[in-house]
Amino acid sequence: MIRKGIILAGGTGSRLYPMTQVVTKQLLPVFDKPMIYYPLSILMMKGVQDILIIIKPEDQHLFEKLLGDGSQWGIRISYKVQLAPRGLPEAFTLGRDFIGNDPVILILGDNIFYGSGFIKHIMQMEEEHKGASIFTFRVKDPSRFGVVNFDSNGNIVDLEEKPQNPRSDWAASGLYLFDPDVVERAASLKPSERGELEIVDLLLEYHKEGRLKAARAPRGFAWLDTGTPGSMMQASQYIHIVEERQGIKIACLEEIAYQRGLISFEKLKMLASQMGNNAYAEYIRSIVNDHEH
Ligand code: G1P
Repeated sequence: MIRKGIILAGGTGSRLYPMTQVVTKQLLPVFDKPMIYYPLSILMMKGVQDILIIIKPEDQHLFEKLLGDGSQWGIRISYKVQLAPRGLPEAFTLGRDFIGNDPVILILGDNIFYGSGFIKHIMQMEEEHKGASIFTFRVKDPSRFGVVNFDSNGNIVDLEEKPQNPRSDWAASGLYLFDPDVVERAASLKPSERGELEIVDLLLEYHKEGRLKAARAPRGFAWLDTGTPGSMMQASQYIHIVEERQGIKIACLEEIAYQRGLISFEKLKMLASQMGNNAYAEYIRSIVNDHEH
């Protein structure tokens, strides 16, 4: 069982300018919560309690203000500064001490996943995991992503980062499982033509050794994109629709912490009482009430 997770929340967010001029992308709202709540909720639901968040230097105090050290949710959150956006694999060299000799999940701070059974699916991936594992989704615009080409038996043929003429509709989502040797591999990667370390190059190394697995998401899962203002609004609408319709909240971290036994009922009650009057606090209070009656 993988117990360590890294959330990558660096990057320039240039496609969302001017929204990201002052506030980093992963702190922007997706409907009623900061974006980073969603990937964080995935890690918590999967049972990851040790989490490293990689951030830009100027954002450290903001993340600390929002998420603290995680103890309010019974988890441990630490931070590591990335001085310049040198690509996703740098998460592993920056996370060297944090990773140690353990396998790790990397989730991108702007990726939103939703669907009944999603966590079970990741756990299944984890059981079959050896080397590196990725989770692919069928998309309409693959050229915006890392693309995985499969043969007719579902085996990986190769991977390409943002190909102009994609040969497959299967995009690699921002959720990756890696063995601890990822640290050394990331350290020896060479930058691509655009001057960054590429996650696809890292994955290709595992593929060459027959140690890369790619799961294909069934149709019922949503992988929401927040790459452009339009897709961010759609993600907000999606969360809004599901929450309104079902009377639940997606990525309510207090609820997840309580359900997973990370915090006590008393603690849940106390957290709710400190939140003032808003729909998020109301929701937690309704959970408290349900359990009291
Ligand atoms: C990154 C990866 C890409 C992956 C995507 C998922 O791209 O490089 O392979 O498909 O995340 O969100 P970025 O969105 O950082 O351009």
